[in-house]
Amino acid sequence: MFARSGLSALAALVLLCCCCSFAAAADLADKLRDDSELSQSTAKSFRRLMPVRFYSLLEQNPVANSTLSLRSCTIFVPTNEAFQRHKGPTHVLYHITTAAFSKDQLEKAVSSDMDGNPPLYITKNRNGDIYVNNARIIPSLSVELTNREGKRQVMHIIDEVLEPLTALPSAKAEINNLDALQFIQKADQLNLGDNKLRTYRSQMTLMKKETLYQAPGAHTFLLPVDEGFKLSTRSSLVDGKVIDGHVIPNTVIFTAASQHDEPKTSAAFEDQLKVTVSFFKQKDGKMHVKSNTIIGDAKHPQGVVLAEIVRANIPVKNGVVHLIHRPLMIIDTTVTQFLQSFKDNGENGALRKFYEVIMDAGGAVLEGINNLSEVTILAPSNEAWNISSIDNIIRDRKRMTDILNMHIIKDRLNVEKIREKNANMIAQVPTVNNRTFLYFNVKGEGTDAVVTVEGGGVNATVLQADVAQTNGFVHIIDRVLGVPHTTVLGKLESDPMMSDTYKMGEFSHFNDQLNNTQRRYTFFVPRDKGWQKTEVDYPSAHKKLFMRDFSYHSKNLLERHLVIADHVFTMKDLAQMSLTTDNVVLPTFRDSLKVRVEEEAGRYVLLWNYKKINVYRPDVECTNGIIHVIDYPLLEEKDIVVSGGSYLQESSICIMLANLIMITVAKFLN
Ligand SMILES: *[C@@H]1O[C@H](CO)[C@@H](O)[C@H](O)[C@H]1NC(C)=O
Ligand SMILES: *[C@@H]1O[C@H](CO)[C@@H](O)[C@H](O)[C@H]1NC(C)=O
Ligand SMILES: *[C@@H]1O[C@H](CO)[C@@H](O)[C@H](O)[C@H]1NC(C)=O
Ligand SMILES: *[C@@H]1O[C@H](CO)[C@@H](O)[C@H](O)[C@H]1NC(C)=O
Ligand SMILES: *[C@@H]1O[C@H](CO)[C@@H](O)[C@H](O)[C@H]1NC(C)=O
Ligand SMILES: *[C@@H]1O[C@H](CO)[C@@H](O)[C@H](O)[C@H]1NC(C)=O
Repeated sequence: MFARSGLSALAALVLLCCCCSFAAAADLADKLRDDSELSQSTAKSFRRLMPVRFYSLLEQNPVANSTLSLRSCTIFVPTNEAFQRHKGPTHVLYHITTAAFSKDQLEKAVSSDMDGNPPLYITKNRNGDIYVNNARIIPSLSVELTNREGKRQVMHIIDEVLEPLTALPSAKAEINNLDALQFIQKADQLNLGDNKLRTYRSQMTLMKKETLYQAPGAHTFLLPVDEGFKLSTRSSLVDGKVIDGHVIPNTVIFTAASQHDEPKTSAAFEDQLKVTVSFFKQKDGKMHVKSNTIIGDAKHPQGVVLAEIVRANIPVKNGVVHLIHRPLMIIDTTVTQFLQSFKDNGENGALRKFYEVIMDAGGAVLEGINNLSEVTILAPSNEAWNISSIDNIIRDRKRMTDILNMHIIKDRLNVEKIREKNANMIAQVPTVNNRTFLYFNVKGEGTDAVVTVEGGGVNATVLQADVAQTNGFVHIIDRVLGVPHTTVLGKLESDPMMSDTYKMGEFSHFNDQLNNTQRRYTFFVPRDKGWQKTEVDYPSAHKKLFMRDFSYHSKNLLERHLVIADHVFTMKDLAQMSLTTDNVVLPTFRDSLKVRVEEEAGRYVLLWNYKKINVYRPDVECTNGIIHVIDYPLLEEKDIVVSGGSYLQESSICIMLANLIMITVAKFLN
């Protein structure tokens, strides 16, 4: 009996060696599923089920080998693929715990069999995934059986090799199962690469925060490395509260295991000071953390601070440590210094490309930013610059400077302030680029809030809000403003301010032409508020304009607003043309449009047919034209009261009555 099972184990081992030493996890899954004898077997060792790389390590380790023969245990076995990715030695006993735990039985932490019994942390996330430290248990591959000694044993296959905290070979004392305090104190003897923690350690000692790092339980500790204290004054800003802000009590966060973008309460969370910390992954795959000081005080200003994780997921006795490249909560650079920091950052900086574009355009923009005492920047992410339409523009310094200036606001504007401005309507904010405005919209509350910003026809979403600097804020956005990426039709369709004009153009088939990329349109688009005003002024005409039966007239009216030429007319062009003539004559589908454009108090107004119409949003650029959003349609009296009892005719009695009521109301209000 013994001989037989020994033989079959050997046979299986040979088979595994030959066939799947490099097999992917998927192959392994098939193997286990197909082998019906195995899945039913008890009283057999699961040595033969194990990925061969781990098996050979296990057999060489006498403690592990005898555990498997003699004791109850749980073994976390990395796939062969995980081994291929793994560098450095593997600590077999760190993968074994001396009690059998099925997936359901795994609690928050289990003791490993390594010297000192350092714990392994279990995370069960919302998707039902289970993680051991940073390794995921592959669901269908767990096996449970009773060995020949009658001991219950469980094997879970995981997708990463588990890495315990280890000392450098040169370390003098024995180092096992350190808590976070011992970790900080003995950092120089640990295997942490080039990362040093001397500055932070001395501040921690100075502030007497030892107990925070000694606290039993399972916490997350963020430790800034010396590299992050190059600014000489920075270390003095690390006070007791700042240190609190680097600890997330009673929560263990391994980067692969935890939900990202979920603010966690730090140890600095009380009445006068509230700091949250969240983990997030940048597009390039690099893990970051950010602190958000929601309520600040004199020493701890409000706002977000970002830090890259330089070494993640180091397990300690009372939780997990992540080394970060700069301290959180500390706001001690200007916007300019912040942008300049991406110069030295090599491939790493989230705003590297933005900085390069500024310098390529001559650097004056940066000088301009530096001249502002209060400033907010909408900074496009590296990925945002990866669009083909930018290629032609980027060589044109003047145009590029205008575009960059469109991303700069002379004010300190965080989301809280934007929200105040945004209470009932889309908030309009001037930029450094004269006569160009940004429009903000905030939807949702708290951490679910989505902030969008529109500038020069581009609607961008804020990816990282409120990155705080001494003189303002940086918001990272997902698109470059002012560089068009949709047609006039695409813009009309998606812009919340133009939906009435879009609707009218749809049913009257006026819109059909607007997707034509061979054309250059200049389109004066009445905004929704403008159409609402006509509803007050001419209720029945307004109603009819939006009825399918009268679509011929709606189309006619819209055609008056659409200039078709071989190039577009910006508001600046039109204002300049108006200097030399009474009326600028612009070609339209049927005939022509005669307008004047003037500037009043830094804004453009359109003079048409003895009417003055505000240009609410000039120069919304599209790939096949430009849109100017205006406050009122180009609507004539004769459109309303057409001879021969035409469709749009208002009852004149009605108008008189309405006027009478208005006058009465006005008097009453006075
Ligand atoms: C491991 O255990 C098996 C079964 O008990 C035994 O046959 C083998 O000799 C052991 N290997 C080592 C290297 O101790
Ligand atoms: C910034 O200020 C300096 C000195 O006041 C001035 O010479 C320079 O032209 C300004 N630069 C910009 C871009 O505004
Ligand atoms: C840029 O976009 C192209 C295609 O749109 C994509 O293949 C490429 O990976 C992108 N590059 C970066 C750095 O995002
Ligand atoms: C913007 O307008 C101000 C005041 O109207 C003017 O002083 C400044 O030169 C203008 N800047 C640019 C870049 O046109
Ligand atoms: C940007 O587009 C979205 C979706 O169309 C819209 O909800 C939002 O209001 C727009 N933002 C601005 C500032 O116009
Ligand atoms: C407009 O054209 C683009 C491509 O040029 C196309 O993807 C889009 O679907 C078109 N829109 C409509 C409404 O036809």
